[in-house]
Amino acid sequence: DPGDYEAGEHESFMHKELLEQPAAAERMLRGRLDERFGTGHLGGLNLDARELRAIRRVKILGCGSAYYVGQMGASLIEELARIPADAEAASEFRYRNPIVEPDTLYVAVSQSGETIDTLLAVQEVRRKGGRVIGLVNVVGSAIAREVDGGIYLHAGPEVAVASTKALTNMFLGFALLAVQLGRVRDLSIADGRRLIAGLTAIPGQIEEVLATEPDLADIAKRLAEAESLFFVGRVRGFPVAREGAQKFKEISYRHAEAYQTSELKHGPLALISTDVPTVAVVPDDELVERNVAALHEITARGGPLTVVTHRGVDLGDLAGRAHRVDVPKNERELDPILLTIPLQLLAYQAALNLGHDIDKPRNLAKSVTVE
Ligand code: G6P
Repeated sequence: DPGDYEAGEHESFMHKELLEQPAAAERMLRGRLDERFGTGHLGGLNLDARELRAIRRVKILGCGSAYYVGQMGASLIEELARIPADAEAASEFRYRNPIVEPDTLYVAVSQSGETIDTLLAVQEVRRKGGRVIGLVNVVGSAIAREVDGGIYLHAGPEVAVASTKALTNMFLGFALLAVQLGRVRDLSIADGRRLIAGLTAIPGQIEEVLATEPDLADIAKRLAEAESLFFVGRVRGFPVAREGAQKFKEISYRHAEAYQTSELKHGPLALISTDVPTVAVVPDDELVERNVAALHEITARGGPLTVVTHRGVDLGDLAGRAHRVDVPKNERELDPILLTIPLQLLAYQAALNLGHDIDKPRNLAKSVTVE
C-alpha cells in the first residue's frame, strides 16, 4: 500500500529509493525473461509477432528524466532491432503538428502516469490513429488507462522528486522491448541469450555500484562547491550525461550542463577552467580512445575531471589527472544503466552536503498534472 510507504531510518526517500533499485529491477524482470529463446516476454503489449514485425519506426515520448531514459531506449531499439527510433520531449510533441503514421509504434514513458504533457501527447497520437504503448509505474494511472497496451514498471511507490528506481526500470523495459523487437527480426538467438543473461546480472551489479557510495562522498563534496559543471558523454554515454546533469541541477541547484564530448571543441571548451569541473561518462566501447583524447583538452586547461567508466578501461595518461569511478561491465548495449547509478549517488551526496531538502527540491513537483 503506497500510503504505508515511509522513509523509515533513511534520511530521505531518495536515498531509500536509490538503495531499493536491485529489488525493483528484480521485480521488473521477473517472468519477463525467456532464456531458452533469448527474448523478452511482454504479454501486456497486446501485439503478436506479425504486428511487432510490421513496426517501421519507434517514437518515444516522455518528460524530464523519462525523456532522457527514452533516449537511451531509442538507442537500444536501433541497435538491437535496427528500427529507426527516437525520443522527443512530450511537452513539445503536440505543438508541432506531428506526423503520425500507422506503422510507427509510440511509447509513452512516465513514472506517475499522470504527467499532463505526456498524457496529451498520447491523446494526440490516438486522435490521429496511431498506436501507443505505455511504460508506466503507477497501475491504473491516466496514461496507463489511455494506451493500447504496455509494460508496468513494478518499481513500487516513488516519493522523491528525483526519480531513481522508476528510471532504472524504464531502461530495463526498453531493453526487453528492444530484444523482443529484435528477435522477430535479425537479432540472433545467440545475441538474444547474451542480452537476457546480461539483464539477469543487472540487479546484482547495481548492488555492487551502490556499495561504492562511501568512495563517492569526497568527489561529490568537491563538485558541490562549484557554481557550474559539465556532464559529458557520447553515443550511449550522452543520455547518461543528460540524466546525470538533470539530477545534479534538480537537487543541488548548481548549473549543470550536459554536452556531447565530441562537441566540447565546438564551444564549451571556452568555459573550462579550474573552477568548472566536468563529469565524463566513458563506456567501455569503441570510442574510449577518442573520449580520452577529448578529455585531455579539459585537464590541459586545469579543469577538474571525474571519469565514470567501466572496470578495466585504460584511460591512458588521464589516470592521475582525473578521479575515476568504476562500474562493473555488462553487455555493451546495456551499458547506460550501470553508468547512471554513480551519477545518482553524486547528485544525492552533493545535495546532502549543501543541506538541501533532497526529496522536495524548490520549484519542482513530483508530477506536473496541469499545463
Ligand atoms: C517532473 C519531475 C521529474 C520527472 C518528470 C516526468 O517534472 O520533476 O523528475 O522526470 O516530471 O514525470 P513522470 O511521472 O511522467 O515520469
